[in-house]
Amino acid sequence: MAMRPLFKPRHALVATLASALLLALAACSGFDNPKLDPELVKQGKQIFRYDTFGDETKWTDQLQMNSVIQAAVDPVTALSVGLKVDSEALPQAVVDAIAAGDVDLTDPQTTLTLISLDAVVGISGEVATEADGSLSLTRVGITCALCHSTVDNSASEALGINGGIGIGKRLDGWPNRDLNPGAIIALSPAFDADPDTRALLNSWGAGMYDPRFTIDGGSNPTVIPPAYGLFGLEKAIFTGDGDVEHEPAGPVAYWNRYVAVTQMGGHGVFEDLRIPYTVDNTDGGNLPDLVTSKLPALQEYQWSISAPAAPAGSFDAAAAARGEAVFRGQATCATCHTGELFTDATEGVLHPITTSAAAETDYALRSATKQWRTSPLKGLWQHAPYFHDGSAETLDEVVTAYDTKLDLGLSADQQSDLVEFLKSL
Ligand code: HEC
Ligand code: HEC
Repeated sequence: MAMRPLFKPRHALVATLASALLLALAACSGFDNPKLDPELVKQGKQIFRYDTFGDETKWTDQLQMNSVIQAAVDPVTALSVGLKVDSEALPQAVVDAIAAGDVDLTDPQTTLTLISLDAVVGISGEVATEADGSLSLTRVGITCALCHSTVDNSASEALGINGGIGIGKRLDGWPNRDLNPGAIIALSPAFDADPDTRALLNSWGAGMYDPRFTIDGGSNPTVIPPAYGLFGLEKAIFTGDGDVEHEPAGPVAYWNRYVAVTQMGGHGVFEDLRIPYTVDNTDGGNLPDLVTSKLPALQEYQWSISAPAAPAGSFDAAAAARGEAVFRGQATCATCHTGELFTDATEGVLHPITTSAAAETDYALRSATKQWRTSPLKGLWQHAPYFHDGSAETLDEVVTAYDTKLDLGLSADQQSDLVEFLKSL
């Protein structure tokens, strides 16, 4: 369905006034204001890490994940499906007990203890003690941090647990590419009678999620992208669906509302007539909206997270300098990857479906815009694999894909210099 224009100016003066008003509104919305509000950022961090928006209705009442976790998800299993443990939430006594081998990592009761400490990243639960002293998980929900945070592995390395992976300090905004959300959801007994959906969920793999399967039952999952380095972009997500026109709180808030309501099951309302897709988890307004009022703070927090700089010594500086010349010259990359964020999404530009150099491009057909946003490139070193479908395992594969698609005729040296430049961003 076509969007109704906001204004129908009858003559030029009205049009001028209307656009002046729009500019003033855009300035007020704060998304081109370089100064973020520290208080809002602080609130947003809390929401990002710990808020479920009431989604226990989905994860407990509907999917019964509390029973699944309590019965079968010991810490070893949790780590094996990519869940992360926040070492800073663990009392020293617990860390010492783990180090001494006194904690049973093959007992789901240990997972419940970790959940009660708010130490399982992205999982929020209520734990009760039964008459016999055992723990039970009465309610469980998920938060944004589940998919968009990981940990620095410092504690698991020190403790020699799980090959050194999975326990450490939180890294908010870093996508959790070890997490297998499909496999986790598929554990729910709700799919006992629906083996097709269970098979679909199990087919996605680690680091992948299809945030549109609830719309159309389709399945071409995307990589879980970073939630950092987004300040200054007028369009959010791979297909640029999110912008201030479709969510007054801002482009990132558009998608945060989408995920909080339609994927996490939070109590709120999402509607976009372009897709078209409407989900109302407030029972027509009978339940309080636990999403809308949090969107500005949540977005502010994500805007406050910069892309991480490439580690010293992780690229060849001289080759990267030569690679930048290739990027801006013969390889034509800078025609779309413009400016400081390396994307023309700072200007609100989107590109036709044939633009993507990824292996599959049908995903965009399921979006609101049916186009692609040029991906911002800062922090590339951190989040392989690349493109929305993860079809390029490495930056070498990205460059090869473009060299072929755009018929650039780059020499082997130019290609490796270009890769060093991409590694440096
Ligand atoms: C089950 C995993 C999962 C959860 C939970 C989740 N996301 Fe995402 N997120 C994704 C995937 C997959 C995409 C890519 C969708 C796309 O671009 O089409 C995405 C995209 C995004 C983006 C777009 C980044 C960009 O480049 O514009 C932001 C920001 C984001 N998520 C923030 C959040 C916030 C905030 C929450 C909590 C309200 C959340 N996500 C919950 C999986 C998740
Ligand atoms: C016509 C516009 C355009 C040109 C030219 C272009 N890109 Fe892109 N780039 C895009 C779009 C759109 C995407 C997102 C595609 C997707 O994910 O399917 C993208 C994605 C990428 C990604 C993946 C980012 C991520 O987070 O996964 C990298 C890396 C990249 N481009 C590098 C380059 C390089 C290097 C060149 C030059 C050889 C180049 N691009 C040329 C538009 C362009």
